[in-house]
Amino acid sequence: MSLSLAADLANKRPQHIAIIMDGNGRWAYRRHLPRVAGHRRGAEVVREMVQRCVDWEIPHLTLFAFSTENWRRPPLEVRLLMNLFRLLLRREAKKLHENGVRLRIIGDQSNLAPDLQALIRDAESLTAENRRLTLNLAVNYGGRWDITSAAKRAIAKCLAAGRDLDSLSEEDISAELCLADSPAPDLLIRTGGEERISNFLVWQLAYTEFYFTDTLWPDFDGNALELALKSFAHRQRRFGRTGDQVQEDACASD
Ligand code: FPP
Repeated sequence: MSLSLAADLANKRPQHIAIIMDGNGRWAYRRHLPRVAGHRRGAEVVREMVQRCVDWEIPHLTLFAFSTENWRRPPLEVRLLMNLFRLLLRREAKKLHENGVRLRIIGDQSNLAPDLQALIRDAESLTAENRRLTLNLAVNYGGRWDITSAAKRAIAKCLAAGRDLDSLSEEDISAELCLADSPAPDLLIRTGGEERISNFLVWQLAYTEFYFTDTLWPDFDGNALELALKSFAHRQRRFGRTGDQVQEDACASD
């Protein structure tokens, strides 16, 4: 780790990074390779990012691997992506466990293949007690699906407890979201040049800092992550307050 990154992390270390991994297809196209070659290389970058987060003591990482809208892709590509997830769960779960990584899959698992659901259950229970890094892999995930499912559960609990629906709060819904037990992401990175959130963590990104880069996901590496962290370290997070208030609070806590 460079000295300046160490200083930036000491000053402001994100507790949770979320990443939209975009650009695998274009990376492959530019090399006259099939799209799946881009996804394969992308899976290697996932490994590197996990290692960086472990090394740099960033305790939560959430990756958007497959959205509820990605089923619209050609069936062959969908099948190959599902096979990549199978491979990750079969081959990597043990290594993640040895590294102190807790693996969690977020998203609607009901229409994933039964063998994939079983692999997910096994990997999650193997790694459940690990705390060095929580790696959330969003598979068949959509932010609106997450909010809708959470709202349904929150309303059902509210009614079952005999409470008036008017008393339903943001906290009641928050508590039912997929990432209820993780802090909200501090930093969202999107690779591949697009600047939108594409139905990722719609609720959880309310106060997140965004970092967009043209780098395609298969080319994203430790240096690219370092640039994102440096950009984050120099942002002032105000959470609705004025810049002066934030500075006064920082001085008071020094
Ligand atoms: C977006 O690139 C990427 C995806 C929809 C899939 C992400 C999957 C991986 C990084 C590999 C597998 C990951 C794991 C965790 C095993 P795109 O295909 O939309 O690229 P394009 O915009 O250039 O077409």
